[in-house]
Amino acid sequence: VRKRRFGVWRYRELLPISDNVEPVTMCEGGTPLIKLNRAVDGHVYVKFEGANPTGSFKDRGMTVGVTIAKHIGVKGVVVASTGNTAASAAAYAARAGLACVVVLPRGGVAKGKLAQSLLHGARIVEVDGVFDDALEEVFTEVVINGKKDLYPLNSYNPWRLEGQKTIAFEIVDELSEVPDAIVVPVGNAGNISAIWKGFKELYNYGLISKLPRMIGVQAEGAAPLVATWNRKSETLLEIEKPYTIASAIRIGKPVNWLKALNAVKESNGTFIAVSDNEILNSVKDLAQYEGIGVEPASAASLAGYRKAIDLGILNRDDSVVLIATGHALKDPDTISKIF
Ligand code: F0G
Repeated sequence: VRKRRFGVWRYRELLPISDNVEPVTMCEGGTPLIKLNRAVDGHVYVKFEGANPTGSFKDRGMTVGVTIAKHIGVKGVVVASTGNTAASAAAYAARAGLACVVVLPRGGVAKGKLAQSLLHGARIVEVDGVFDDALEEVFTEVVINGKKDLYPLNSYNPWRLEGQKTIAFEIVDELSEVPDAIVVPVGNAGNISAIWKGFKELYNYGLISKLPRMIGVQAEGAAPLVATWNRKSETLLEIEKPYTIASAIRIGKPVNWLKALNAVKESNGTFIAVSDNEILNSVKDLAQYEGIGVEPASAASLAGYRKAIDLGILNRDDSVVLIATGHALKDPDTISKIF
């Protein structure tokens, strides 16, 4: 008897993992696609990734990444994180019986996420600086100093992106068509790259006959890809001291920048910057007009959609999916500050 599969592993045939590998899973994925009724006019849906086991889309990548880590027999995993990757790695490592080290920017991680890393038993290392410094620390320790028993699971690890590409598969399954555009909050730029990979695979297999435009949204104070895109630079225009209230995407040197630029270019999309105020207004509108509670970074997608309409990048009759990347409970402090 074949076990009924749910979420990410429903698409196992489209994941490059052989049948003898046993997944480390908590039924992640299969998240709601919710049509907006009041916050905006038009055919706009929210893919509510807050409904994943640890409350963010990171679980889609982590189920695959930790499955591989366990399969190859490492002792533990390590990630740098603004919080959600850490929470997810901690939970999946616990489930797999692996150690987990999370390297975090001191003072830069929302309370709910920090609590999750503690809860699931990760070892927490704090670094002075921002996410980019934490990632540098992981590079130095694991790649240069050769800590071979710690498997790195940041989104330059291709297995992460394999899991996250299932967002595209679910959108097509649910809508039975390809939306005109996907709007994605961008930090380290893994997710937008992964979702684009998912759509392109469906297209290359002949399962869909058009591709969506990929719209990447960054916060004004942490918008290296917007700058790189607008100035048509061939190298990343890094931000040394990124700042936004949306701590999840407070990133100045996104590791997947080139993949993300290519995704946006190939899909005839664009990058858009939104202000912290626009982000907070979108948090509020999703919550109070639609009942959808998201953390600030997630609301960058609605803020970006509104800006894209204003700028004439998108039309009101375009069908659009906004990726709401993480749950409101992740960041209670920011919410208490606005209301
Ligand atoms: N939204 C949320 C809630 C996130 O946590 C992240 C990334 C993003 C959007 C951006 O996704 O990095 O693939 O472009 N969070 C990472 C972390 C950096 O450490 O949790 P991305």
